[in-house]
Amino acid sequence: MSRKILVTSALPYANGPLHLGHLLESIQTDIWVRYQKLRGNDCIYLCADDAHGTAIMLTAEKLGITPEEQIARVKAEHERDLAGFLIHFDNYHSTHSPECQHYSEEIYRRLDANGHIERRDVTQLFDPEKNLFLADRYIKGSCPKCKAEDQYGDNCEACGATYTPADLLNPRSAISGATPVEKTSQHFFFKLGDFENLLRDWTNSEALQPQIANKLREWLDAGLQSWDISRDAPYFGFEIPDAPGKYFYVWLDAPIGYMASCANWCEKNGRDFNDYWGLDSEAELYHFIGKDIINFHGLFWPAMLDSAGFRQPTAIYAHGFLTVNGKKMSKSRGTFIKAETYLKYLPAEYLRYYFAAKLSGAVDDIDLNLEDFTNRVNSDLVGKLVNIASRSAKFVQKGNAGKLSNTQHNPDLWQRVTAASATIAQLYEQREYSKAVREIMALADATNEYFDSCEPWKLAKSDDTIVVAAEIASQCIDIFRVLTTYLAPVLPELAKQAEQFLNCSLTWQGDFTPLHNHAIEPFKPMMSRVDADKVSAMVEESSDNSPPPQTAAKSKKAAKDKDTGIADTIAYPDFAKIDLRVAEIVAAEAVEGADKLLKLTLSLGEFGTRQVFAGIKTAYNAEQLVGKLTVMVANLEARKMRFGMSEGMVLAAGPGDQDIWLLSPDSGAKAGMKIQ
Ligand code: 2FM
Ligand code: ZN
Repeated sequence: MSRKILVTSALPYANGPLHLGHLLESIQTDIWVRYQKLRGNDCIYLCADDAHGTAIMLTAEKLGITPEEQIARVKAEHERDLAGFLIHFDNYHSTHSPECQHYSEEIYRRLDANGHIERRDVTQLFDPEKNLFLADRYIKGSCPKCKAEDQYGDNCEACGATYTPADLLNPRSAISGATPVEKTSQHFFFKLGDFENLLRDWTNSEALQPQIANKLREWLDAGLQSWDISRDAPYFGFEIPDAPGKYFYVWLDAPIGYMASCANWCEKNGRDFNDYWGLDSEAELYHFIGKDIINFHGLFWPAMLDSAGFRQPTAIYAHGFLTVNGKKMSKSRGTFIKAETYLKYLPAEYLRYYFAAKLSGAVDDIDLNLEDFTNRVNSDLVGKLVNIASRSAKFVQKGNAGKLSNTQHNPDLWQRVTAASATIAQLYEQREYSKAVREIMALADATNEYFDSCEPWKLAKSDDTIVVAAEIASQCIDIFRVLTTYLAPVLPELAKQAEQFLNCSLTWQGDFTPLHNHAIEPFKPMMSRVDADKVSAMVEESSDNSPPPQTAAKSKKAAKDKDTGIADTIAYPDFAKIDLRVAEIVAAEAVEGADKLLKLTLSLGEFGTRQVFAGIKTAYNAEQLVGKLTVMVANLEARKMRFGMSEGMVLAAGPGDQDIWLLSPDSGAKAGMKIQ
């Protein structure tokens, strides 16, 4: 029986272009949805732009346009890029829509009526020139510890200290430059703690991947804080009912955007919203998201839905981050690749295939290694899959007048290929695309081996055996049809071209029956090899080789160093005071509330372990560091930071942001060894 399924992916901010990180999610989701549709399920894929918040308001102001103009512009770009990657939405809407306003107000009213909203005064830094409360990222000043200038409100890039904006020396608004003042105003809070039982049950249900459920359990064990859902004017968003000058925080209405897009789609298609969101809905509801926004979808969203009388999601499917060539995407390395830039140089399906070949149902990060990408597409798609059709087609033309033969030349292989249907289907369902791709490619290998072993090119030389050559080629082409059907969710354009060539539509419902005595079209090239020059040109265009903006402190220091070229000479005993050691990173994790810090646990072998906070999060993901050797200053005075004690320092080179390179010793070095 056909399943009714609603699928969403996270709503991109209407504040800038999409990059390949966004595409990882859209492609993962689109493959799943296309698979469901191909199997005959009643599945819809909805998304929207996330159009509210201070950042969008400020961007519009900078551009001299209204926020409405800004979000309309960006939405058009997003839709263009997503279509370019063959992402097919049933509806792409906006959170700045009447439907979103309606459901945001409705949900808020129900939460309030149920006693889950509290009002409290909050004191925050305020920009008296812009008349605007300042989030931490909009406050700059000098580090209270090392006095470096031009540091953000939460930590110091120069010395790694962490603090609150109130600790900054000479704080100023990053928006206007004015000195902020403290100001108190009333905020609205959603009392998340009221939902502890619901959230514990949800965390123990099947709705979450184990890694995500564990994270949520940690948060639950730490105690649920009420969530500040209001922002004061000026703000671009929806005003809270009966609270003039107070607006819903962008994250309050963002997931409601899923409902809004659904309501809009239902309206256009004569469908019933309650079939999807009502408490007795029989539809399945899945949210595909990145692991960084699990708190919103795993805690706030189920609690809001519960209190407001809507159904719960069937599951949340979180994925990891995208790295390129093993590191965070970086403008200076040319690996911060915008969707638009990619499409200028390369076909969408190459990336769809590469991501599919790497994605699993787990929350792991995915690396786009550009060399591997080139080799993989060339070898699998061009060298194996399309090759089956391109090398076979001429024998069907010559040996059987362009018709697939009436015989099954290799029933065993046909049986093997078609019997894989159930396994491959299950792998798609579980989002284990890499395993599905591996299965499919193994079948392509077997088909090419069969073709090679039969040597149809020799048989085609004689009139007596040319018909056998056509039978072999027909068998291969019919298998190509099945393999292309299996890959259709990943490669929809290739599937279309295959339909044209095969002169039939590709369906994957019920058993595959052989295509016998069936006229096909002459073969036309379907896919070309990846041109490595195009990959280089894409990286070149993506790279911002202008020097990264320096902080005032750094610029001053750089100027000083330029005078002598290098720092002042020191005597050896001064150097010898520094106890540098090889350290193994045995654990690494992000620090909640700090944008740039990772908490590292370093093993010094026989000398025990140390905890160090390092300002390297902009360049490294925690997961990729575990197991690495690095160099640490082992005798640096321990420092108390906001998040705990830092017992040393790891060494790294580079100007900052994404361009930080941790030092590592040559292989063979052991944790604890002295560096001298
Ligand atoms: O993190 C983001 O990019 C958000 N705009 C995602 C919102 S997802 C949903 F809740 F709307
Ligand atoms: Zn500092």
